[in-house]
Amino acid sequence: MDADRLKEYLKEVFGALSGAMTSTMIYLGDRMGLYRALADGVPVTSVDFATRTGLSERWIREWLQQQGAAGILEIREGGRFSLSPEGVAVLADDSHPAFGAGFFSHLPQTIQLAERLPEAFRTGVGLTYDAMGPEGARGIERGLAPWFRALLVPLVLPRLEGVVPALEAGMSVADVGCGAGVALLEMAKAFPSSEFHGYEISHHALDRAAENLAEAGVTNASFHDAHQEPLPKRARFGFVTTFDCLHDMTDPASVMLEIRSAIRDDGTWLIADIKALPTFEENVEKNPMASMMYGTSILTCMSSALSEPDGLGLGTLGFHSELAEQMTREAGFSHFEAIDLGHPVNAFYVVKP
Ligand SMILES: C[S@@+](CC[C@H](N)C(=O)[O-])C[C@H]1O[C@@H](n2cnc3c(N)ncnc32)[C@H](O)[C@@H]1O
Repeated sequence: MDADRLKEYLKEVFGALSGAMTSTMIYLGDRMGLYRALADGVPVTSVDFATRTGLSERWIREWLQQQGAAGILEIREGGRFSLSPEGVAVLADDSHPAFGAGFFSHLPQTIQLAERLPEAFRTGVGLTYDAMGPEGARGIERGLAPWFRALLVPLVLPRLEGVVPALEAGMSVADVGCGAGVALLEMAKAFPSSEFHGYEISHHALDRAAENLAEAGVTNASFHDAHQEPLPKRARFGFVTTFDCLHDMTDPASVMLEIRSAIRDDGTWLIADIKALPTFEENVEKNPMASMMYGTSILTCMSSALSEPDGLGLGTLGFHSELAEQMTREAGFSHFEAIDLGHPVNAFYVVKP
């Protein structure tokens, strides 16, 4: 054994533990509104900040120091700390498309799944998204919503030939694997002449979708439990979307066949899924977030995709563009085109019958 390499290896391993601790502190900062309380960018001492937040100074001091040590907050003179403008976008401003704190908001529930996973490693059968409880659905919603809210209607839809005029004129739209319904409701608000149907199997996500529907106050959207009320067998929809969910499905091939039956011959299907590459080696070489994504896969995506005994189990990095093209062709679609929307994590595919 090489002593220098041992040191490096220990650094690697404890760097991972350090990431887990910092992630937990980000969870706490988001949950207690600490980043929002720092959003004016003004440097604070622990005394200032404890007064501002009404929290205990000793605890606040330790949190500020941890966040400074981790590079999340800027360390300023005189024992003061501040949140940079980039920090505000990522951690405090949930209307910014780069807002990322939402992804930490179901961290405890996600990590807790690890208690149940040794059983999954033995049996091969994973857990559905509902295993994370209502906080899981809420966390996925908070993680993914900012991008949909800021960019889906103004940036993405205009890139799809003929879709916006058809939505303005009125057509039926389905979002399959719609989660809490944020994307669907953004479209429903923007296009009152069209009708929108969300399909989901997670009860917690459907509960959130019902709350979001009531809050949106629109009458042209509805949500369906896909187990009770599957997609219609006749060609009804002019536009179908699937956002970050095909790789989570136990049987994506069957869902694609259902989409093919339910979409009109002149319809458009927009797929958003993780920018994955065909091999493990390419993913490790080209994706700096590969280890986080394989971990996420075991905790949630692949677990969901194996939550039935014969699940396909694609997982977070399992649905690369070549497979997407092959599977959509096998489901009866002839047009497949990747479009670049500058998303940091997702690839977008336009698919037509
Ligand atoms: C990562 S979430 C994405 C949710 C949503 N599209 C969004 O962008 O917020 C994946 C979702 O796919 C759902 N899902 C998995 N299998 C499904 C199926 N067969 N039919 C419908 N939804 C499914 C899960 O319940 C989960 O809510």
